Amino acid sequence: MKRYLKQLGVLFLLFACIGLVACGEDEGPGGDSNGNSYSHNPGRNCIECHGNLKYAGTVYTDISGGSTIAGEIIVITETDGSVRRIESDGSGNFYTSNGNPGGGYTVTVEGNTVGMVASATNGGCSAGGCHDGSSTARVYVN
Ligand code: HEC
Repeated sequence: MKRYLKQLGVLFLLFACIGLVACGEDEGPGGDSNGNSYSHNPGRNCIECHGNLKYAGTVYTDISGGSTIAGEIIVITETDGSVRRIESDGSGNFYTSNGNPGGGYTVTVEGNTVGMVASATNGGCSAGGCHDGSSTARVYVN
């Protein structure tokens, strides 16, 4: 009986470890960014590593991608009319784990609204071919 319990314990530990590893994959920031915290990798596609984020990017001072800006409000209007207001953090990055990015959402930064092309089916703003500063301008304030 004792031996049986010990085996059960080992089995439990094994599953606990597998569970932790599995959860680790999508770990990262949750909720919305705000001006009181800092993050990393400005200009990179956050969603590439943080699969739990729905929209994420970096906001810059100008179209050529000068420096990043903290405390900027990014307003996203989804196709069903839901509006999300996300504040860029101390590193100029903004992110949220909420929302439903689909073709045609719009983004407003300081009164400037940009409509996404219909093929924008995710919210990784800095993804290659999106607002990466080469094919399309960075997200910026002017
Ligand atoms: C190359 C992979 C990679 C990229 C790209 C990346 N991150 Fe991370 N990030 C990580 C790892 C690894 C950690 C530390 C472990 C964790 O908390 O997930 C982390 C941690 C964080 C944390 C702290 C999470 C916490 O709960 O304390 C924040 C906030 C964050 N990242 C935001 C961002 C933002 C915003 C971007 C895009 C501008 C981004 N990351 C891009 C890999 C990445």
